Amino acid sequence: MRVAPHDSSTSLSSFNEVTTLITSASLSNVFEIPSIAISYSDDPLGDIISTINVPILGATLVGIAAVGLSFARLIPSLGAEAFVLTEEEEAATSSVRNAFDNADWEKEEVEEGTKGYINRRRQANEAKEKYQEGKVTRDVKDKSLRYSETNLDFLAVLLRAARPQRGEILVDLGSGCGRTTLGAAALFPALGKATGIEFLPELVKLSNGYRGKVRGRKASAEFVSGDFNDPVVQSKYLTKADIVIATASFFNKGEVERAIEQNIKVGSRVIIVDERLRGSSFKLIEEVVDGAGDLQLNNGYVYEKIA
Ligand SMILES: C[S@@+](CC[C@H](N)C(=O)[O-])C[C@H]1O[C@@H](n2cnc3c(N)ncnc32)[C@H](O)[C@@H]1O
Repeated sequence: MRVAPHDSSTSLSSFNEVTTLITSASLSNVFEIPSIAISYSDDPLGDIISTINVPILGATLVGIAAVGLSFARLIPSLGAEAFVLTEEEEAATSSVRNAFDNADWEKEEVEEGTKGYINRRRQANEAKEKYQEGKVTRDVKDKSLRYSETNLDFLAVLLRAARPQRGEILVDLGSGCGRTTLGAAALFPALGKATGIEFLPELVKLSNGYRGKVRGRKASAEFVSGDFNDPVVQSKYLTKADIVIATASFFNKGEVERAIEQNIKVGSRVIIVDERLRGSSFKLIEEVVDGAGDLQLNNGYVYEKIA
């Protein structure tokens, strides 16, 4: 089953049509570059105006306006948080949002998100640079340590699709500042435990701070400093997971897939973003499209391990 908050296909096709229209009425047809560019004229501006092809200029302006309108129609589908949540889910997501962006200045929205998010991303980048200091480039993780945060409404819909059961263990791979882990703990307080595994120790410390700020009911949550590729971490946490979340689009895809495939038990569910699990041991339960991130659509997939 595929769930999308919006249908942006109409906007996209009209955008393509308009782009074609503009290309065909290219600007070179509108202005015939006059010879006055190289010869003398006592009224150069008047000469240019007299050469303008009015019908083609009109068509071009209409085309430009239509492109603008198409973009305007596209923007709500990329910017709105359009998932329909239950009252309990709404309460859970807003308590996590408030925990992470608590002060007024943190709630303030700028182009890339809240100021609180920008601040967390800065702290994550500093932690990454500290880790990379003095190490040879090819030996240090870079892309996979990039920071971003999952849209909590998107998470709510994905978690619902994974059908969590009372007492189950949820493991979040690459938990950053703990937003996804704490989101899951608040969205389904009957979980036995929600464990976030994070490579950068500074972010584990921040996660523990945010844990205390989430108000209302939530499952017990813990944050572990470690690499989910480490066999010790895998046998201690991944093998016990009933639900695994891997929400970061920047992970090394092969690593995540191997860690999941080789360690989780049959019957466990996997929530994974922007990555399809290949192989016959996983059955796709649901696909969810999130148009509310940045200027791109994120695809979330929920799988069940069947063999
Ligand atoms: C995009 S952030 C996660 C954000 C989180 N899902 C949220 O919504 O707040 C990805 C995190 O994964 C961590 N990470 C990357 N590779 C890892 C690995 N092999 N083991 C543990 N953590 C890892 C990075 O340090 C980074 O903090």
